[in-house]
Amino acid sequence: MKITVIYGTNRTEKSSTYNIAQQFLAELADGDPVTEFHLPKDMPKFCKSCSICFTDETKCPDYDYLKPILDAVKAADLVIFTVPVYVYHAPGQVKAFLDHCAYLWMPHRPEPAMFKKQALIISTAAGAGMKSAVKDVKDSLDFWGIAKTWTVKKAVQSSDWETVTEKRKTEIAGKVLKTAGKIRRCKGAGPRLKVKLLFYWMRSMQKRMGFSKTDVAYWKENGWLAGKKPWKRT
Ligand SMILES: Cc1cc2nc3c(=O)[nH]c(=O)nc-3n(C[C@H](O)[C@H](O)[C@H](O)COP(=O)(O)O)c2cc1C
Repeated sequence: MKITVIYGTNRTEKSSTYNIAQQFLAELADGDPVTEFHLPKDMPKFCKSCSICFTDETKCPDYDYLKPILDAVKAADLVIFTVPVYVYHAPGQVKAFLDHCAYLWMPHRPEPAMFKKQALIISTAAGAGMKSAVKDVKDSLDFWGIAKTWTVKKAVQSSDWETVTEKRKTEIAGKVLKTAGKIRRCKGAGPRLKVKLLFYWMRSMQKRMGFSKTDVAYWKENGWLAGKKPWKRT
């Protein structure tokens, strides 16, 4: 399975989310390409609020950082996000990356390939906050049209992987095996109901009012206003 990993921080060996992601790679990569990015190293910019991406994303002032990450996302069967909890939410650099992808949201120009891939969000906290941190990312993935998004959440009571107790590491390993099995079984499957409903809702909005000329033209070009669906071949 081709996998792209977007790590929510620059940490590696000491990071719990990084180590959990490595366990998924060991289970799922099967010798296929794995492409990895770290935030903020690979996207060190904040959105400049120019809104030019809604007309042409290649004109984004930070496109040189964005393009390699999104190319790898488009090429992957599975996209993994690691999201340590920072003050009950995703770290700022994760939000900064997602802000650069606003044009990919379904009301605008969703990428057809997204509707055929899976994502996994791995979140750990010392104690709490995984639910809201995961939601920070999952909202974007649902609106990108990602077919299925899985989550692994764990309170590790620690800031470093090496001090996470063996009991918790065993629980995590069990969760990794279970979730990896589900991901393997769902390879190539269509979007879940929520994503389909979002698509139908956005389609009716594009038909009735159209969000912008660019968006309507894009939806027409893809045949979506004439009944085509991005998760079907024809
Ligand atoms: C700036 C910062 C804010 C944090 N905020 C929270 C928090 O709100 N709730 C919590 O339980 N842990 C919080 N933590 C602890 C981390 O979420 C926790 O150690 C997590 O497992 C780190 O993941 P990592 O090892 O992959 O970096 C925070 C840590 C940092 C550095």
